[in-house]
Amino acid sequence: MNNSSDLRIACVMVGLPARGKTYIAYKVSRYLTWLGIKTQIFSVGNYRRELVGLNLPHTFFDPHNTEGVKKRREAAACALDDMITWFEKDNGTVGIFDATNSSKKTRAWINETLTARNIQVLFIESVCDDDDVILCNIKDVKLSSPDYSERDPDEATEDFMKRIKHYEETYETVTEENLTYIKLVNVGSQYIINMIRGYLESRIVFYLMNLHTRPKRIWFSRHGESLFNLEDKIGGDAGLSPRGEQYALKLPELVRQNIGGRPLTVWTSSMTRTIQTARHLDFPKKQWKALDELDTGVCDGMTYDEIEAKYPDDFARRDEDKFNYRYRGGESYRDLVLRLEPVIMDLERHENILIISHQATIRCMYAYFMGLSHEQLPYARIPLHTIIELKPKAFSCEEKLYHVDVGSVDTYRPKGQTARKLKDDKFVSDIPVSSEGASGEIVDSNNAPILPIKPIGITRTNTR
Ligand code: G3H
Repeated sequence: MNNSSDLRIACVMVGLPARGKTYIAYKVSRYLTWLGIKTQIFSVGNYRRELVGLNLPHTFFDPHNTEGVKKRREAAACALDDMITWFEKDNGTVGIFDATNSSKKTRAWINETLTARNIQVLFIESVCDDDDVILCNIKDVKLSSPDYSERDPDEATEDFMKRIKHYEETYETVTEENLTYIKLVNVGSQYIINMIRGYLESRIVFYLMNLHTRPKRIWFSRHGESLFNLEDKIGGDAGLSPRGEQYALKLPELVRQNIGGRPLTVWTSSMTRTIQTARHLDFPKKQWKALDELDTGVCDGMTYDEIEAKYPDDFARRDEDKFNYRYRGGESYRDLVLRLEPVIMDLERHENILIISHQATIRCMYAYFMGLSHEQLPYARIPLHTIIELKPKAFSCEEKLYHVDVGSVDTYRPKGQTARKLKDDKFVSDIPVSSEGASGEIVDSNNAPILPIKPIGITRTNTR
């Protein structure tokens, strides 16, 4: 049972159809979950589909269709009830109520129902009058929704436009002075905020103000193999090994072939190995202390075998809960997520960024974009001598890997095992590689390099 003094926030989406509400809901949910805040989306559309089925004509959404109005209200009431139950029984912190909520009357009902239960309400309205953006949203997102699963795309688009017209008849933008709200106008060109209360609401508002919906790609690479990597040591500030140097030398060509002529900016940590890895790249560079490797405290400079021998209890506790385990005098992955939050905010604002950082830091950022749980995050595979390209989409993230055929050790330590000491010259990876398109410098299905130069992307199977 939730203590009545516990903070609970309902983010209530507002806006006409195809204004990116579901995308915003999904991004906020992913961001808060990444920070460790229990968050869940309640989509009234899903309840409506459950109640009255799929492939409804636009006339169902006509405000003069009494039966349609009744069913939509019923779906909204069910979703709201479930969200309240989730807050009260499952100790939820942020519930996101995704629907159009486009009339003052509906918003007053939601606000009164939730505040009576001690749940703070933050309305998030997305306003967009750019016809191109709306059409793009319909084509990219709406036509693949279950509502239109078996419809001809042109006919579905026309139907959806008519559905929007029905909503326009009763739509009232948020102006209620007694409500807490943020209004996002034309994807980031203007924000209007009213009565924001407390730290968590401010964090959500700040995140929304950094959010942009332009399509973009982000590239991550670990530093080249370091001298510490060769000795299985963690931490430290070692320089690159000879193979790490080779990777740094090949990086500009890999970037040229795969990232192309974009006006790239390179972000590195403040540590020697990432700065050395980036030094042949002829792009503007920025060093972030926040991108430094996980601080391993008293274990800095030790091998996993040494840690296990000297601190056996710590070693076992880390395996039990790797995300929360904090090194003595150092950090946990949970600490690292908080340290990286400003980097994520900046990444949301920017395009064409190549980040050269470390295994643990890249795991955290990768988890944000790929939606990994806190259990999965510390075990994400981030191999050396590989660029990971992420292309965030509306509700997922596409991933491609570009490997370079410069051998490296494998620093991955699976749960419950001591360190692996692979100092093999061949590329070491157990990432699934599809045979189709696996050429160039990419490893084949036996993990052997095929050709020395000519990078090509492979797609890592994403089962999340
Ligand atoms: O300690 C530094 C490593 O990059 C983090 O690796 O969390 O898998 O031990 P680990």
